[in-house]
Amino acid sequence: MKLFLDTANIQEIRDGARLGVISGVTTNPSLASAEGIGNSESYKTAVCEISDIVDGPISVEVISLDAEGMIAEGRDIANWIPNPWVKIPSTIDGFKAISVLSKEGIQINQTLCFSVNQAILGAQAGSTAVSPFIGRLDDIGLQGIDLIKDIVTVYKEHSIETKVLAASIRHTLHCTLAAQAGAHIATVPYKILTQMVEHPLTTSGVARFKADWEKIANA
Ligand code: E4P
Repeated sequence: MKLFLDTANIQEIRDGARLGVISGVTTNPSLASAEGIGNSESYKTAVCEISDIVDGPISVEVISLDAEGMIAEGRDIANWIPNPWVKIPSTIDGFKAISVLSKEGIQINQTLCFSVNQAILGAQAGSTAVSPFIGRLDDIGLQGIDLIKDIVTVYKEHSIETKVLAASIRHTLHCTLAAQAGAHIATVPYKILTQMVEHPLTTSGVARFKADWEKIANA
């Protein structure tokens, strides 16, 4: 399973990229807004900077709600950087836009996916990746991870090539479970990426090796 960073924070992206484990970045209007980005020009500037740091797909979300607006935004975003994935929501207008843009060769990250049926529709419309939001399903008392398992099963059964991108990841167990469920990609907030590194036995083991070495070195 590949890992993407789920943030629009440039410092987090720089720090995450240094680990050498990040294959892409996902952004959305909420993440952009958290960084003080509130218009298309500043979003573009940030996305270009992200693209200079990470050599992989950078997901950029459309703001329009109607198909024509999404198509126009998608065409524009497609020219911002070398490897954009245009994020389009799983709505009627979204599917219209996905089917037009995908036929033009534009890569699509179909976002806000909450059902297998939406994932089936997206695959037919030409989505490059579908993003089931597991944390938001957990928030309403469902098992978000089950949606990943179900989409992976259906896509395998029908040899569908659309990637399953586990999104709305809230804790490290979500990453493990998404990998076990067969997700191709998980997009993780920077804090969770660093928590994936942590284990108390690694911390204590490193300290003990150093202390034992210094006993002789300082004897
Ligand atoms: C990523 O593509 C999604 O937009 C993001 O993971 C959503 O996360 P949230 O549910 O924590 O806002």
